[in-house]
Amino acid sequence: MRVLVTPDYRTLSRQAAEIIADAVRFEPRLTLGLPTGSTPLGMYEELVRKHSDENLDFSRVKTFNLDEYIGLAPGHPSSYHTYMHLHFFDHVRIPIKHIHIPDGAPGIDTDRESIRYEQAIQQAGGIDLLVVGIGSNGHIAFNEPGSSFASRTRIVDLARETRANAGRYFASEDEVPRRAITVGIGTILESRRILLLASGSGKSGAVARALQGPVSEDMPASALRGHFDVTAILDEAATPLPPIAGVIGRAW
Ligand code: F6R
Repeated sequence: MRVLVTPDYRTLSRQAAEIIADAVRFEPRLTLGLPTGSTPLGMYEELVRKHSDENLDFSRVKTFNLDEYIGLAPGHPSSYHTYMHLHFFDHVRIPIKHIHIPDGAPGIDTDRESIRYEQAIQQAGGIDLLVVGIGSNGHIAFNEPGSSFASRTRIVDLARETRANAGRYFASEDEVPRRAITVGIGTILESRRILLLASGSGKSGAVARALQGPVSEDMPASALRGHFDVTAILDEAATPLPPIAGVIGRAW
């Protein structure tokens, strides 16, 4: 794993966007795996800026989001559909048929949707570059501690800590859905390249365990150490002390 330590969130966001932009310029038909949450907000902002100022072209890119809440209609203000359109898709020229987000709408057949989504990723030829955040409990996408490293797209129960952290995006914590649909750790590990982003002191404990602790299903992000092409971009606050062995660079 390559570890890049940046001084602050802004630099982290720029570095992540630059890696994505380079990949899209090199392969305009790239398939991206995309996260939501607070961490990638600056990255999306920077990608939108690159689209308008540098003609970064997303028109042939395909995207697969990593997860969605179960029980929220796509138009719900706290759905990941809404997040992605608000922060990224509505600001770049990308055909709607290239955008894939798991469907968690009320009443859908969740098992069928899980299979459909996993197959859609395979049919697209897999994910070329997948971006993930990390939960303070070490989850990646919504693969909570205990998830199998071989897991596939499926319905999961959200951990209490995950629901508590998500409470800020809902009227109250009680309104945070209890279940989600998420790509699996096995799905993530099949991506050709992975970019892990972590910002803020609230993540340093999880980053330390993921990068330096035992590789274990108790710490889902530790699975990334079994992948041959992972770049972790951390800001100073998220970087554990003592420094991580294998840091390849500091981007200032
Ligand atoms: C979101 C996702 C989650 C988040 C993680 C960190 O699509 O898959 O795993 O990446 O919970 O969230 P933030 O960035 O809000 O700290």
